[in-house]
Parts: sequence; C-alpha cells; structure tokens
Amino acid sequence: MTVPVLENVAECISPSLVIIREALDSNLRNMIAIAGSVDRLRPHCKTHKMAAVTKIELALGITKHKAATFAEAEMLADAGVKDIFLAYNLVGPNIDRAVKFRTKYPDVAFAATADDAAMITALSNAMKEPRGWTAKMGVVLDVDTGLHRTGVSDPSKAAALYEQIIQSPGLEPWGFHAYDGHNHQTPFEERTAAVLSGFELARKLRDDFVARGWPVPKIICGGTGSFPVFAKLTDPAVELSPGTCVFHDTGYATAFPEMHFDPAQWIITRVISRPTDDRLTCDVGNKAVASDPPKGSRIFFPDLPDAEQVLHNEEHLVLQTPLAKNYKPGDVLLAIPKHVCPTSALHKWAYVAEGGRVTGQWDVTSRDRQITI
Ligand SMILES: Cc1ncc(COP(=O)(O)O)c(C=O)c1O
Repeated sequence: MTVPVLENVAECISPSLVIIREALDSNLRNMIAIAGSVDRLRPHCKTHKMAAVTKIELALGITKHKAATFAEAEMLADAGVKDIFLAYNLVGPNIDRAVKFRTKYPDVAFAATADDAAMITALSNAMKEPRGWTAKMGVVLDVDTGLHRTGVSDPSKAAALYEQIIQSPGLEPWGFHAYDGHNHQTPFEERTAAVLSGFELARKLRDDFVARGWPVPKIICGGTGSFPVFAKLTDPAVELSPGTCVFHDTGYATAFPEMHFDPAQWIITRVISRPTDDRLTCDVGNKAVASDPPKGSRIFFPDLPDAEQVLHNEEHLVLQTPLAKNYKPGDVLLAIPKHVCPTSALHKWAYVAEGGRVTGQWDVTSRDRQITI
C-alpha cells in the first residue's frame, strides 16, 4: 500500500485527518460501478458525516441518502439532499425532532425505521396534523435478517406492523430495511450464501404483502460487506446502502479482500518521543482514532507494518520496532484507521489533499449529536 506523499504536510497539525481526494473519487466511482446505477444507491453518511462529501455524491447523481442520527439527516438536508432515510427507530424527543425536521425541510422526502406498534402510533400522532409539509412521513419496517440488533422477523408481527403503518394517518409505508452488518465472512461464497439466505425473509414478506395489495416499494439493504451481493440482485425494490467503502479502512480491507476500494481517510501523526532505541511514541492517542477495535490493532502504519503497538493512551501511541532508529521527534507518519466511521466522529474537521498537496479543510459537519434540531 502506497503512503500518500503530501508536499506541505509539515504545515499540518497533528493528530489530524486528511482525506485524499483521488482515493475518495475512485471509491465513489467504484461504488457506482458495483451498483450499476446511481438510482440503486442510498449510501450511508455515517462514515464521513461531511457536507463536502455529500455534495460530491450529489454532483455524481446520487440523490438518495441514509443517516443514523438527526444531525446527519440535517447535514444531508442542508447539503441539498431531497430524499433522506433515517435508519433509526424514533422514540422520546426524537419524535418531536422528526416534526421539527419536516417543518424545516418540507420539500425533503423523509422516512425513519420502526419495529414497534407504540412507536408507530406516537409517530402518527405527531405527523397527522398537516403543518406545512405536503407528503406523508415515510416509515420503513425494520426487518431483522440475522443481525438481531433491531427489527422484526416474525411474519405475522411484521404484517401487523406494516398494516398499522398503512392505516396510520400522516404516515406512508416505504418498504423494508434489511441491514445485515453481521455478514462479515471473508470467503466471498460464504458471505454471498449468508446474505442471500437473510434476504429470503425480506423477499418472502414483500411477496406476501404485495399479494395482499400492500405497497412495498423499497427494500433498503446492507452495508459494504453485502453490497456486491445485493448489487447483483435484479429485484427493482432493492436499494444499496454501503457506508464505509466511501473512505474504506484496514478492517474492511482485511475482511473483504475481493473489494478494490482505496483508503481515502488517513491520520497524520508525529513522532513526539523515542524513549528507547526500539520505541517510537506518536501523538495519535485513543482520542484521535476509533478505539472499538482491540488495543494494538486500531491503526495501521504502512511504513512500519511490523511495529507492535505496545501502549495506547489518550494522547500517546507507543510503537515497538527495530525501525525506530530511523525516526526522530517531529517526523510525520501517515496511518490508516482500522475503523474509519467512529474515527471521523472524533475530529471536528479533516484536511483534504489533492495532487499531492493539502489544499483545504472539510468540516465533519454532523459529528455533534445536534446541529439545530
Ligand atoms: C443501518 C446501517 N446501514 C448501513 C451501514 C453501512 O455499513 P458499512 O459500514 O458496512 O458500509 C451501517 C453501518 O453501521 C448501518 O448500521
């Protein structure tokens, strides 16, 4: 893997993120090629949380977008997206936030997931009085195809909820959500079989509901791992919602070797000490890179592939390597996070580089839980 050379990296503060524009553009082109058409895509913005990236996607013709938080939905709407699916069950103050969102963006087609009768009733009560928006609020029935995080798998419960959505004033059924983030099998044939067997539940439910005369226009499917499998389906209801592949990371590069995405988000870090001949201490602590992977594997240094990460504190990462002697305090290293999505959320902004130079900064617009709504 080639480490990007950035001629003005000495001016960049560290630890910080840098988005390599060429890699991002290539990943987006690859994503569209796998999908076969921009119309089948609904990328998840959780990976980047950036208005700048959303605007690039819009310019490429990707009009449908997915979010996990109201801040992400608001970021998308402010960037100009007119079709937003909030893949999250709305409870508590989030019901009121949905009303505020629709009032602020009346021309945005907006839907959220649901998997519970009381939740659908609360949403309908909030949406049934017209308040300036024209369309109904979309509801996407969350179908549990094996992740067991949210959703329903029992056909009669699914039917009862879907019928409730259809009959609820102020709401309209958009179809199903079938997210299968458990399908991370590395052998492609094994992953394909697991993805298709999970999809069977959604397909059968859809066929049954359509036979009852109920509209099921969309089945919003999967993440990056299942993306190439769902992309091969010809079912016109299928929408593809990968997120990570837009930036990619070493976690997915290892798990899904058949995919050809490039690391687009790098971490700029500096050596701040060489406490012993075989140790380098860098300024990329666990407040600068996602720490949900186990200690020792949260970040990858292509220039020091065999370095052992022996200590990871809030602002320090200690690497043990015989190559330490080649480095001195102040030297810059570029590294790739193992898990890119939570890494984005740790930074207020990221540098952007093009043509081997850092050329600007992009805000991580929706890293906060609340923008205005
Ligand atoms: C509901 C949902 N959809 C899509 C995605 C995108 O998946 P990936 O990160 O594998 O691209 C995620 C990731 O967490 C998710 O939770």
